[in-house]
Amino acid sequence: MPLERTFSIIKPDAVERNKIGEITAMLEAAGLRIVASKRILLNHDKAAEFYAVHSDKPFFKSLCDFMCSGPIVVQVLEGDNAVQRNRDVMGATNPEEASEGTIRKEFALSLEKNSVHGSDSLKNAEIEISHFFTQEDIIS
Ligand code: CMP
Repeated sequence: MPLERTFSIIKPDAVERNKIGEITAMLEAAGLRIVASKRILLNHDKAAEFYAVHSDKPFFKSLCDFMCSGPIVVQVLEGDNAVQRNRDVMGATNPEEASEGTIRKEFALSLEKNSVHGSDSLKNAEIEISHFFTQEDIIS
């Protein structure tokens, strides 16, 4: 399996409930290594830039407002097949559809307050990582 890097966000709803450690433990137990991590507060411009692909969606403004509502943790995860591995441990976007044992099943409050974000492809992982990290920030 290819060694990959993917991008993860622990969202404001989970940070606010002090779930960074429990979520990170689930990522690590799934075989992912945290090779860069920082706690930040997004501003509206940065949130809109990051979620630009959703700019025409009805939930866009609410999503950006939510993502700026409190601190988040942005991370680079490394591992075999990291993009899919992370998506598997996150579970479905809508927590009502998330499988048992996934992060969203365990922690998500709603479709919007779904605790984590993860890249959906290797190409998007590269783009999303570059929004927040330089190559020097990432230590394998
Ligand atoms: P995320 O993986 O961060 O990507 C976009 C986010 O938009 C998604 O998780 C959800 O938190 C949020 N969202 C809000 N409403 C919807 C919706 N109807 N469909 C998909 N995503 C939504």
